[in-house]
Amino acid sequence: MVTLASIRLDKVSRSFTVAGATLPVLAAVSFDVPSGGVTAVLGPNGSGKSTLLRLIAGLIAPDDGAITIDGVPVADADQRVGLVFQEPRLLPWRTAADNVAFPLELAGVGKLERRERARALLDLVGLAGFARAYPHQLSGGMRQRVAICRALARDPQILLLDEPFSALDALTRERFNAELLELWQRTGVTILIVTHSIAEAIFLSDEVVVLTDRPGRVAARVEVPLGRPRTAAALDSAAFSRAAATIRSHLSGRADDLAAHEAAAAPIHDVLERAGAPAWFDPFGGGV
Ligand SMILES: Nc1ncnc2c1ncn2[C@@H]1O[C@H](COP(=O)(O)OP(=O)(O)OP(=O)(O)O)[C@@H](O)[C@H]1O
Ligand SMILES: [Mg+2]
Repeated sequence: MVTLASIRLDKVSRSFTVAGATLPVLAAVSFDVPSGGVTAVLGPNGSGKSTLLRLIAGLIAPDDGAITIDGVPVADADQRVGLVFQEPRLLPWRTAADNVAFPLELAGVGKLERRERARALLDLVGLAGFARAYPHQLSGGMRQRVAICRALARDPQILLLDEPFSALDALTRERFNAELLELWQRTGVTILIVTHSIAEAIFLSDEVVVLTDRPGRVAARVEVPLGRPRTAAALDSAAFSRAAATIRSHLSGRADDLAAHEAAAAPIHDVLERAGAPAWFDPFGGGV
């Protein structure tokens, strides 16, 4: 069991230099993730979501503003944080178990303990039988699960996930979402997940942070009014539909649009029955 930890971002800005020009990527981003909570981040391509996760993990530093975990500033490659990259980035010459154990090896943990920890984590995500398989012998979804195990290897207090399920088919994705919630319940880790799926964001999180186009700013923080534990039935609820419409209106930059408010008031069944039902409702499939 890990100790719970909260994340706080206070007016965080970051830019990059590209071909001699300054490219502002994140502008005065402030929000917080409570201890043991799940927050989702949604935003257009290039709005700085992956950059945001790298900042929280301490892989890069902000130009301005502060990032703290439990009030303590984030350090270089902060050990309190586990990051699952947008691509699984497994080492092809290592087995699944050895990939999971890699951060432990770097930390000087003994062989026996490494092996046990890796096995226990792979077991947790249903991959016990694949401990000795190499990445090329695994499916994309399995590789993602191995990457999640690797991020959990050193018992982080915070798990950052960068579009971990975007390459999966709709049903597998739903199953993985349920599995992620189960993992969250079992470990109590604080989760921040980047996704392009409005449905996935709502299903998983307590709050959805919506970013604007680059430079990413917080367009809205939308609270998810769904209880836990969550089942697929939550996807059909009016509360789900309202949250989806609110998020969508902020993403499109038309939060005050009358149409958006009308959509927010309509039950999801009505929305779906209309011709040209919005693609974003495809369970976990529709993207931003
Ligand atoms: N190391 C870097 N050097 C220069 N520019 C960078 C670097 N990393 C990111 N960028 C730029 O910052 C912007 C935001 O990138 P980032 O990967 O954070 O976006 P994103 O929101 O994760 O996008 P996507 O939804 O496509 O994953 C992009 O314009 C990208 O070109
Ligand atoms: Mg990204």
